[in-house]
Amino acid sequence: MAEKRVAAQRKNDFLLTFVLAAFFSAGLAAHAQMADQAWLKYADNRVQLADLPRTVRALGTNVLEQSAATELRPGVIGILDLMPGTKGKSNPPLGETVVGTLDEVRAAFPGLVVPAHIAAHGFWLKRTVWHGQPLVIVAGSNEHGALFGAFDLLRRVATGTDLSHLDVIEAPAMPIRWVDEWDNLDGSITRGYGGRSFFFENGKVLDDLSAVKEYARLLASVGINGCNVNNVNDAAPFLTPEMIKGLARIADAMRPWGVRLAISVDIASPEKIGGLKTFDPLDPDVKAWWSAKVNEIYQLIPDFAGFTVKADSEGQPGPASYGRSPADAANLLAGAVQHHGGVVLYRAFVYNNHLDYSDLKADRARAAYDIFHPLDGQFAPNVIVQIKYGPIDFQTNEPVSPLFSGLRKTSEAMELQITQEYTGQQRHLVYLAPLWKQVLEFDLHAENRVTPVKEIIAGKSFNRPLGGMVGVSCVGRDGWLGSPLVMANLYAFGRLAWNPDLSPEQIASEWTRQTINPNSEVVATVDKMLMQSWPTYVHYTGFLGSQTLTDITGSHYGPNIESSERNGWGQWHRDDAQGIGMDRTVATGTGFIGQYPTEVAKMYESPATTPDDLLLFFHHVPWTYKLHSGKTVIQYVYDSHYEGAEEAARLGKEWATLKGKIDPQLYTDELGRLEYQAGHAIVWRDAIVQYFLKESDIPDALGRAGHYPGRMEAEDARLAGYKVSDVTPWENASGGKAVACDPNSAQKTCTAEWTYTGHAGLFDIAVQYFDLQGGVAHFTLGIDGTEIVSWAANDTLPSRRPNGDNSTRYTARGPDGRGIELKPGDTLRVEGAPDGSDPAALDYIEIEPAG
Ligand code: GCU
Repeated sequence: MAEKRVAAQRKNDFLLTFVLAAFFSAGLAAHAQMADQAWLKYADNRVQLADLPRTVRALGTNVLEQSAATELRPGVIGILDLMPGTKGKSNPPLGETVVGTLDEVRAAFPGLVVPAHIAAHGFWLKRTVWHGQPLVIVAGSNEHGALFGAFDLLRRVATGTDLSHLDVIEAPAMPIRWVDEWDNLDGSITRGYGGRSFFFENGKVLDDLSAVKEYARLLASVGINGCNVNNVNDAAPFLTPEMIKGLARIADAMRPWGVRLAISVDIASPEKIGGLKTFDPLDPDVKAWWSAKVNEIYQLIPDFAGFTVKADSEGQPGPASYGRSPADAANLLAGAVQHHGGVVLYRAFVYNNHLDYSDLKADRARAAYDIFHPLDGQFAPNVIVQIKYGPIDFQTNEPVSPLFSGLRKTSEAMELQITQEYTGQQRHLVYLAPLWKQVLEFDLHAENRVTPVKEIIAGKSFNRPLGGMVGVSCVGRDGWLGSPLVMANLYAFGRLAWNPDLSPEQIASEWTRQTINPNSEVVATVDKMLMQSWPTYVHYTGFLGSQTLTDITGSHYGPNIESSERNGWGQWHRDDAQGIGMDRTVATGTGFIGQYPTEVAKMYESPATTPDDLLLFFHHVPWTYKLHSGKTVIQYVYDSHYEGAEEAARLGKEWATLKGKIDPQLYTDELGRLEYQAGHAIVWRDAIVQYFLKESDIPDALGRAGHYPGRMEAEDARLAGYKVSDVTPWENASGGKAVACDPNSAQKTCTAEWTYTGHAGLFDIAVQYFDLQGGVAHFTLGIDGTEIVSWAANDTLPSRRPNGDNSTRYTARGPDGRGIELKPGDTLRVEGAPDGSDPAALDYIEIEPAG
């Protein structure tokens, strides 16, 4: 019996996969930039699937209810009608599905027992019978709730929830659920990896805002209710009368989906664009200027949500210029928007980026608390202090910011990044929900009671009226985030802001079912990959709380260990021949740990009670320090990086098992991305391992570090046209050196040749090269004069110099992946054809057992 059920389930999975794949391909081809490219693929077709009444009626005239009804209304053809063998058999149930507010439901169905009250923006979903006919009710506490309820119902359908006894009440955990975009007026997006802006171009708001509408629909479907559209840096030009008119058009585009427009403002605007001689927040003229400007905004955008402010930070002007505090600046703006119902999100990301590295007490991590904690109680009620989840800057692993417990009379929002600035820039698959969840669940134990971050930011712990979550999203025109699987992060952000009690596993599974397909094998595989991806990334990048170890003064992408050290930015990890880590203890260090409530501070003050994954954030320890696992720190560095690179390779192998089970275009696209990621994980591994091997001078107990069997360096090859050069930083190339075509050489192509001396057999041959900007170089791999494979270095990676940002691996695996035959004495040859400023630079080739 059980077996039969499994078989039936498999058959259904198959049929559904088949039909959904057809929709998928059609959808991809038909639209340039649609919400359907994300998780809302089948919105039009879900209702039949759930056997819900097909007649959908909005009870009110409000635009949000109309949107909800449109979303619920079935498409022309239902999925069941398309399934082989089911055509014509899906008799749609009679009755109706209604959407409205609780009051409207009461009026429309007198005598029906309706919940007396639902919290703000919440909803009630109910299946019942009315005068003998099926009735499905989507009732919001207000029209926003009705819209969220409609999307929730669709999600339940799409994820296969049993709706026969539907009776659910839900409300969002926190009022602020915003995304921030860092779009610039010229159409570029700071830290955006999904193409150009769909809000702005050439100094103006775009004429065609259809992508904005689709984005708002996508945001609303996961409960997001605010969108700040411009970069926190250089925001002054957004307040000109012309721009405000353009912004009003953006607000109009988002309004049908209940997403309110917000913008970042430059606190120096009165001076920069207003013609005043000052921007002192306490100056009456400045106050009058802001008040007039805000009135101008609300005249065109009556539901304008408010301002986000970055001030006195990374070169942005701020109140400090006049000896005023962040509270003075925040309250100035808050006063102007208050009677319109607006809020001010004042960012706590304020720190001195000219710290003195030689001062062992200097500590960037302290800054937010040092500046904002003394101001607690001074902020206006409609100010929300927006705090990055960690005290530094969106690192792969940071402790929770102590400021969350340092403000008890102020509303707070947690800021996180959906865009993967420090976590692989969407080229690496990193599902961030487990990281965010860890932060949300962290109990700061303020006032000696249970105060997890999720309750603090929801305003529950300290009884604050506002608060929530802000995700820096930076979506663009190329499929939103520029990579299909990482869209799970945008989805997860919305779901966690709505309900931080959800688990990352559950969210992953919801997303996969809606976005890829509901086949149980597919869901299990993708969910596993997503859940593994963050630990994997941490394993091959920064370790034990040392932060990401990426190029922090440049791309924030590839490895660059020394870029964090010996400069004023304060992202230090203080490594030397003896050990590594920042001493942030109260006893002997910077005192940062003292900013946490007693119980948490006690845990971090001693290395013995500090969790291994944050050890180096809090303590400076010798390389031979033993972790709780019993491993020394240096051995952990070696082990975790070798494991991390293997785990990255496994992601690709797991994805490969989905061949034939998912949309072929998605399959091929993601496979290429994962192959790239596996290669880049090796670049990370080798950079970190060879750097710290040299630094500590302690060998790897397993003999891997510094030994690369099968690797043949380009600088050791017989070269023609190629010239050996040093790579900076040295750890970003194997042995610190690479070869690049000499621009002065008369030859059009350059070659490197090696004689194979290993045993005969079948092998994979990996070629490690540098794919630079400014041209598309071509490479050819040949054996004994026969060309095996050729490819173009046509990726778009940071930097015009060979380094860890653009070091890329191409692996030749032979026909059908069975390997390439090699025997001793064979000549291996790589030919590089430079193009533009890309010199076809080469690091090494590596011969590996096939498979
Ligand atoms: C990071 C990021 C900047 C950004 C800043 C911020 O440092 O690299 O581009 O401006 O964060 O959050 O303001």
